[in-house]
Amino acid sequence: MTSAVTPPKTYSPRRRHPDEQSRRPGTFQTAPATPPSPKRQHQKQPQTSSTQAPLVALTGVNKTYTNGSQALRDINLQIKRGDFLFVTGPSGAGKSTLLKLLYGQERATAGDILVDGQHLAKLRGNRLAMLRRRIGIVFQDYKLIPRRTVAENVSFVLWAQGYSRKEINRRLRPTLRMVGLQHKASSFPDQLSGGEQQRVSIARAVVSTPPLLLADEPTGNLDVDNSRQVIKILEKLNSIGITIIITTHDEQLVRSSSHPVVQIQDGRLTYVRH
Ligand SMILES: Nc1ncnc2c1ncn2[C@@H]1O[C@H](COP(=O)(O)OP(=O)(O)OP(=O)(O)O)[C@@H](O)[C@H]1O
Ligand SMILES: [Mg+2]
Repeated sequence: MTSAVTPPKTYSPRRRHPDEQSRRPGTFQTAPATPPSPKRQHQKQPQTSSTQAPLVALTGVNKTYTNGSQALRDINLQIKRGDFLFVTGPSGAGKSTLLKLLYGQERATAGDILVDGQHLAKLRGNRLAMLRRRIGIVFQDYKLIPRRTVAENVSFVLWAQGYSRKEINRRLRPTLRMVGLQHKASSFPDQLSGGEQQRVSIARAVVSTPPLLLADEPTGNLDVDNSRQVIKILEKLNSIGITIIITTHDEQLVRSSSHPVVQIQDGRLTYVRH
């Protein structure tokens, strides 16, 4: 029989959402005064493969869903460490499918996918879970835990990976500061604007300093100013070495940047800008 999962002793009791009947003040601790910079955190990540090899490589990849829907056809794409790539294309073109293949939510029907030195087709169970820990993901609809504070939403991923409270606290403050939300650590998602919620989800995706960040329409629900802010944060993350792949419908956003762009149409990928 499996026992119920209980938070480790190193994790502070959570702050209650205002709607909850019994109220208890928050005790989530904040970070020490001199946390390490995100750059140093990133450099501490173990390098599992040569820095010369592409971080992501797709060769002859096809994806046909079980209902017969052919989402991707003969995709060939290489993404180097430190790249920032926009993936554009109309609705239903296959953009989300491409990202789902990269973090192993879906399997390719044919072809080879290499991510951070690992061939995805061969990865199962624990080894796939370990690779996923090295990929940050941001979605259009944020996917925050409603009754957890900003600090808890961001640190949950570290707690689940067995980080100590000391290490969680060391990472939390600089990550919240990086997305401009240090003053919202004790707020709940429904007390934040859409742009702020998306910035929390970015903080959550990068607090474990993954080498690769996948963002699926992260600006899809945001106005122009918030969209630009999100892109600026992604560019800041890219400048400290995190490889970024972002899908978007927003042609204005793509035009106003100078990053490489690929387009997917009817499942086929072409380069728009190198
Ligand atoms: N789980 C699924 N089962 C069957 N077909 C699917 C599934 N997910 C996606 N598809 C189909 O695969 C194709 C590509 O879908 P995908 O979600 O990758 O498109 P997209 O480019 O992300 O579109 P959008 O811009 O609307 O998000 C579409 O025809 C879609 O209907
Ligand atoms: Mg999509």
